[in-house]
Amino acid sequence: MTAITIHHDAELLSKAAAAFFAERARLALADHGRFSVLLAGGSTPRRTYELLAQKPLAEQIPWHACHFFWGDERCLPDGDERRNETMVRRALLDHVHVPPEHIHPITRCEEGAEQAAMLYAAELKEFFEGQPPCFDLIVLGLGEDGHTASLLPASTALHEKVRWTAVARRPEEDFSRVTLTIPVLNSGKCTLFLVSGRSKAKVVRRILEPCSGESTLPARLIRPQWGELLWFLDEEAAGLLKAQRMASPEL
Ligand code: 6PG
Repeated sequence: MTAITIHHDAELLSKAAAAFFAERARLALADHGRFSVLLAGGSTPRRTYELLAQKPLAEQIPWHACHFFWGDERCLPDGDERRNETMVRRALLDHVHVPPEHIHPITRCEEGAEQAAMLYAAELKEFFEGQPPCFDLIVLGLGEDGHTASLLPASTALHEKVRWTAVARRPEEDFSRVTLTIPVLNSGKCTLFLVSGRSKAKVVRRILEPCSGESTLPARLIRPQWGELLWFLDEEAAGLLKAQRMASPEL
């Protein structure tokens, strides 16, 4: 099931995403005693993370039962401003009481991206007790080129069907990336894209209303096997969509 809701602006999109996160955390705790979430990097989700760290949500979310993973990471030294881990810690994790052992960043990149990818796959295997990863919530962003996580157009990682992690690299960057792969990203119980801004309108239309013969952009490969697929867009990002979508009841 794919659902698209359009929010007036980035702030209301972030508020809706934060409220949704909190609700999913409560449901997961009630259902199986923990909430596993895969976080996106980039700039769009930062405000959502900040709102989670503020009242009232910060007091409502069962932080003790939350387990945080990342959908991708830039292979840079711990604490580097460009790391997705750094952004999430500053926006959220430094302000709420998540047990440190429940925070699973992609690290040890200094040993090489391939090694970091292998180690993260092992960490996923341990957390999911040998079963394929099945996150309660997967949060994804969308690049203007249609990438998500670090599954970049034309990258070999896009076609990985077995391994849960892979190495990626953008030609313009002087560092590698580790990304989770399609098998993991399509195995979540709920996958939530957060996309805002006019600069994303074209790629949003290419993904949600593709022309025939449209090249398959990485984000179009996100088709959860059984979970929900939700798109939270602001009006700017949704600006080129033809179909009328359910306007979200603003919180
Ligand atoms: C990354 C992110 C990436 C991001 C998109 C959108 O490490 O860059 O994981 O997949 O979600 O590039 O980024 P913005 O939200 O900054 O537009």
